[in-house]
Amino acid sequence: MSEAIPTILQQANGLAAGDTTGETDLGFLWDFWYPALRSTEIVGSRLATAMLLEVPLVLGRTSDGRAFAMRDSCPHRGIPLSYGRFDGKTVECSYHGWRFDACSGQCVEIPSLTSQDKLKVDRIFAGHYPCEELDGYVWVYMLATGLRLGETVPAAPKLATFSAKYKITRLACDLPAHVDHGIIGLMDPAHGPFVHQSWFWRSRGSIHEKQKQFEPIPNGFRMSPHSPSSNSAPYQLLKKMTGEPVTTTIDFVLPNRRLEEIRSGKLWFTSQTTVTPVRRDLCRIDFVAAWNLFFLPVSIFRIFGKTFLRQDQETMIQQSEGLKHNPHLMLIDDADRPAKWYFALKANLMETRRTGVPVAHPMAGPVTLRWRS
Ligand code: FES
Ligand SMILES: [Fe+2]
Repeated sequence: MSEAIPTILQQANGLAAGDTTGETDLGFLWDFWYPALRSTEIVGSRLATAMLLEVPLVLGRTSDGRAFAMRDSCPHRGIPLSYGRFDGKTVECSYHGWRFDACSGQCVEIPSLTSQDKLKVDRIFAGHYPCEELDGYVWVYMLATGLRLGETVPAAPKLATFSAKYKITRLACDLPAHVDHGIIGLMDPAHGPFVHQSWFWRSRGSIHEKQKQFEPIPNGFRMSPHSPSSNSAPYQLLKKMTGEPVTTTIDFVLPNRRLEEIRSGKLWFTSQTTVTPVRRDLCRIDFVAAWNLFFLPVSIFRIFGKTFLRQDQETMIQQSEGLKHNPHLMLIDDADRPAKWYFALKANLMETRRTGVPVAHPMAGPVTLRWRS
C-alpha cells in the first residue's frame, strides 16, 4: 500500500528559507537534545555561533570549563550577543553593555542605571538553554518556548562503548532538506544498491531479497539483532578475524537518532547518527563512530565514511531540486515502512504532549519486513 507523505513535510518543502507566512508548525520536535557544534569549536574565551531549529545560538566555555548556550539575541534590543565580549563568566552586549551570566542567562549589570533606578536587573534573562559536552559535541537541549529552566531535563545521549580502549571519529555533512527528508533517507534500505555502489562495499548486481525483524522500543523501533548483510565485504572480514558470529542491532529513536551496534566476540563497533534540524530547508548529519577493531585505522574508516556521506549528500542536493516544485510523494511497503513508523511516532509524540494522554506505539509488536536491496 502506498501512503502520502504527511502534510508538515509537504508544507516545509514548498517554503523558501525565511518565509514564515502562514507557517506555524515546521515539524521540529522540541524538548530534546541536539548537537550544536563540535567541542573543538569553542576554545578559550571565543564565542561561537550555531543554529538549531531556526534558533540562533551563541556558545562558549566559561573559564572553569563549562560549555554554555544562549539565544544569540540581546533581550534589550535584539542585537546578537555574539558581537559582544566574553570575560570567561559573563557575556557583555556590544550595544549598551548589559552583562549576562553565561551559565544562567541572568542579567548582572545594566550600565545606564543610576542609583535612583528601581529596575530589578536580576529579573531580566537572556534566552538560555541547557548545554552538555559528550563524545566531542556540544549538545543543547532545545526547550520549547514557555518551558522554564529547572524542570527536569533528561541526560544527553551518549555513544555506547564496550572496552576501555577504543578509536573514535566524527564526520558531518549538511543536507539541503527538511529534517524529515534527512531522517527517512537515513532509514531507507532501498537506496543502497543505487546510491552507495562502490567496489569496496557492494555492487548493484548483488541486489537480493532480504527480510528483517523489527520491534517497538520506547520512542522508536529496533531492527532486531541479526547477522549483517552477507554481501558486504567489511562484515565478512570481521567474521574471519574473530571466528565468531557477527550481530548487528540498529535502533531509531526520536527525535532523530540512529544507533548501530555491531559485535563479534570481544570486537565491537558502535555508531550514532543524528539528523539535526538547522532551518526548515537545511539539516545536518552528525556521525560519530567508535570501535576496538585493531585492524581498522581511523584514516581508512574516514575515507569510506566520507564517501558514503558524500553519496547521500549528492543525492539529497538533487532531490531538493525536485522538491522545490512541491510534488506529491509516496511511501511504499515494505521498504518505506520504517519511514511510516517515524511519521506515526512523531505525530503520536506531538499528540501526547498536546493532550497529556499517551498514544499507542504504531507497532503492536514485532514485525518482519521484506524488501530487495
Ligand atoms: S541591545 Fe543589548 S544592551 Fe542594548
Ligand atoms: Fe545512504
